[in-house]
Amino acid sequence: MAQIKNIGLFTSGGDAPGMNAAIRAVVRAALFHNVQITGIRRGFEGMINGDFFPMDRRSVSNIIQRGGTMLKTARSAHFKTYEGRQAAYEQLKKFNVDALVAIGGDGTFRGTKTFGEEFDVPVIGLPGTIDNDLRGTDFTIGYDTAINTVINAVDKIRDTAESHDRLFIVEVMGRDSGMIALRAGIATGAEEIIIPENKSGMLNLIDRLENGRKDKTSRIVIVAECEDEEGGAFEIGRHVKEKFPHLDTRVSILGHIQRGGKPTCMDRVLASRTGVAAVEALLAGRRGEMAGLINNEIAFTPFEQAVKHNIDIDPNMIRIVEILSL
Ligand code: F6P
Repeated sequence: MAQIKNIGLFTSGGDAPGMNAAIRAVVRAALFHNVQITGIRRGFEGMINGDFFPMDRRSVSNIIQRGGTMLKTARSAHFKTYEGRQAAYEQLKKFNVDALVAIGGDGTFRGTKTFGEEFDVPVIGLPGTIDNDLRGTDFTIGYDTAINTVINAVDKIRDTAESHDRLFIVEVMGRDSGMIALRAGIATGAEEIIIPENKSGMLNLIDRLENGRKDKTSRIVIVAECEDEEGGAFEIGRHVKEKFPHLDTRVSILGHIQRGGKPTCMDRVLASRTGVAAVEALLAGRRGEMAGLINNEIAFTPFEQAVKHNIDIDPNMIRIVEILSL
């Protein structure tokens, strides 16, 4: 196994708060171990286009507290083709990059897995996504900040809901994943959560509105964005308005504010720990795995297991919403 001399680093997919802290950790850990580090801008797109630059300790000064990603990010259709990946490999050779650290989510790891195997490039991934929809880590980088953004927003919506005696249907992000909705729902005391992993959410809501307490003046329902025709807050809002015209119902979509802002302590520490672990794993000969945190210990999971396939939602968490919204 050839010794790794130059690690290429990129962020890809949706940005997530804490990605900058992860970039800093990877750069500093590589330099600590006397390995060169090359930044790649705009994810796979930048890899294909040769948008590479050398990084040093100062290139990552003063970024640990910033949201977004200083390396920029993109989703790349071109990298899904063999020609695109071949072009990316040519650029790695041109810049003498002999290993990669990829920070991203599901799509990023699918792409890097294929690429690493096709061209025999060692890659370690860091879980960077607000969605928390990867196996092999209790939390992803960005999730904690995103749910804190959601609870700040929903607390404010609660004020106006209470003043006007309204029912609010609030849509949160998490492409086909209810992880943001579930945790933020518990933390905001939501009356109901509707998530793709629990098909009875809509029925429960109707049942509660028909047969539940009538003295509730305001209600918050948290809905995960979802591509089903049944899903989506506007669709649910339309249904509720039709069935319960006496309720004053409003829909609020929180959208991309959930992706920005200063990372929380938890995300900064998670990013720093997994960033160092990723570099040390590459140098120890690991490849094709994601560095995550399970029970507060660093854990490595092969990409094919990390990428989402029906992440388990703890049924107890759903019960807690039911019990506490009596
Ligand atoms: O994966 C992160 C995420 O924010 C999802 O929760 C959401 O569905 C998606 O990205 C939105 O993507 P875009 O940035 O293309 O709007």
